[in-house]
Amino acid sequence: MQFDLEKAPASVTYRLLIGLVTPRPIALITSMNEAGRLNAAPFSAYNYFCTDPPIVGIGVTDRPGEEFVPKDTARNIRRTGEFVVNVVTEDIAEKMNICATDFPAEMSEVEIAGFTTTPSQKVRPPRLAEAHAALECREYTTMEIGRSRIILGRVVAIYVDDRYVDPAGPYIRAEELHSVGRMNGLGNYVRTRDAFITIPRIPYEEWKKNRQ
Ligand SMILES: Cc1cc2nc3c(=O)[nH]c(=O)nc-3n(C[C@H](O)[C@H](O)[C@H](O)COP(=O)(O)O)c2cc1C
Repeated sequence: MQFDLEKAPASVTYRLLIGLVTPRPIALITSMNEAGRLNAAPFSAYNYFCTDPPIVGIGVTDRPGEEFVPKDTARNIRRTGEFVVNVVTEDIAEKMNICATDFPAEMSEVEIAGFTTTPSQKVRPPRLAEAHAALECREYTTMEIGRSRIILGRVVAIYVDDRYVDPAGPYIRAEELHSVGRMNGLGNYVRTRDAFITIPRIPYEEWKKNRQ
């Protein structure tokens, strides 16, 4: 099948792209409004883009059914300039999903999901105590693109549970962290437990030798 995205409705484009750019890491973002009200929501249009400086990016669409009205996460980050990316692992995946429900403003998705919070090192929004790793970020810039916003955040501090750090690198013991990835918009995710394959990078000299 071929699709012309210059003619396709936005919903078709969305379904195709989120099923093809996979698996995606999930940022469960905690942010606060000006009054200090805590918000948590997951975003899989997410990755790091560089490490020097350390920049992560998140794509946030408008609120469903409303045009040019940002989701609370994007609004909070624009107003207060800080957020925390809580890394989503298997053990908190169900709770993460609850945070994606559009609860009325007076209901706290953090409490409903059964998360608790703990202070961050450098930013005002707390991290989730149940998350094994978290990236504390300050807004670097926000680009308004059509009906979406791409938020770039500079990572200013990182928390990782000692169990998941090999101090030699330091490296992350990724095969033990069990992060999950999002596969499409149908509620499908992948586990990374037992799913590791190791493909070492090949130095050119070694590649030449092996061809002889
Ligand atoms: C796993 C997962 C990933 C999601 N990724 C995104 C995303 O990348 N961008 C987006 O705008 N919404 C995404 N959503 C939907 C938001 O989480 C949802 O709209 C949420 O209610 C927004 O909350 P907020 O208004 O408190 O920011 C995702 C939902 C789930 C379950």
